[in-house]
Amino acid sequence: MTDTYDHWWLEGTNGNQEMENDHQEAWENIITLMDPNDIMGKCILDFGCNQGGFLRKLHDALPFTSGVGIDLASKAVAVANTRVGTKPIRYVNTGDAVSVGQRFDTAISTSVLYLIDDLDAHFQMINDVLVDGGVYYASFADQTDNPSFDYMKRVIDAYGATKMQGKTLNEVVDSLVAHGFSVELIKEYTKPTYEVTDYKKFYLSVADFIQSCESSYLIKATKASVKGNLSGSDRK
Ligand SMILES: C[S@@+](CC[C@H](N)C(=O)[O-])C[C@H]1O[C@@H](n2cnc3c(N)ncnc32)[C@H](O)[C@@H]1O
Repeated sequence: MTDTYDHWWLEGTNGNQEMENDHQEAWENIITLMDPNDIMGKCILDFGCNQGGFLRKLHDALPFTSGVGIDLASKAVAVANTRVGTKPIRYVNTGDAVSVGQRFDTAISTSVLYLIDDLDAHFQMINDVLVDGGVYYASFADQTDNPSFDYMKRVIDAYGATKMQGKTLNEVVDSLVAHGFSVELIKEYTKPTYEVTDYKKFYLSVADFIQSCESSYLIKATKASVKGNLSGSDRK
């Protein structure tokens, strides 16, 4: 299991917070792409939660019964726990979802899959903590044929505590299917406008930035239901 560390994004004076600020709009979009029936009244896992903002925003939009966020970055998890308020959420400093000792109706990861080296082990872990018929939503863009791949990887590896991997969409889908999931791809970027002002942060050209938007998906992977089994939140 991967070791924990203090912070994930080390750029600037408060990299985790800056990342959180940058991700607000993408989170709002992702929430609109999810089926509310997979969230409301359910038990939710946020894998790679950082400071926990996504789970809190999700709860405001689609109240769930209980949520757990896990992350390897100890200081980000500490911040998350100070911000939880009265929401039914807890945050745990680990990369091992099984160690949380709970099953979930729905697992989510936003901007995390691209950092996972061993996809088979990751999807096995998610499978182990999901109820039968449970769902894993994971945002992912195949960047392997993006001309800015090396540039992007250099930036992410310089500031991120874990390194960018170069997995293809085929590798991700094939591994999910091998672990018994059925897989749908929901297009993440559906707007008629591209906000390109800051493209140079991760891309060498505007065209590469647009290519990345166009290859971004919210993966919806559903674990097979075992006939006669009730889902986690239906269990008494
Ligand atoms: C790019 S950040 C995304 C954070 C948050 N999900 C968001 O959308 O803003 C990736 C996060 O995943 C965490 N992470 C990376 N690998 C992990 C692992 N194997 N287990 C748990 N957390 C991990 C990092 O510490 C970091 O907080």
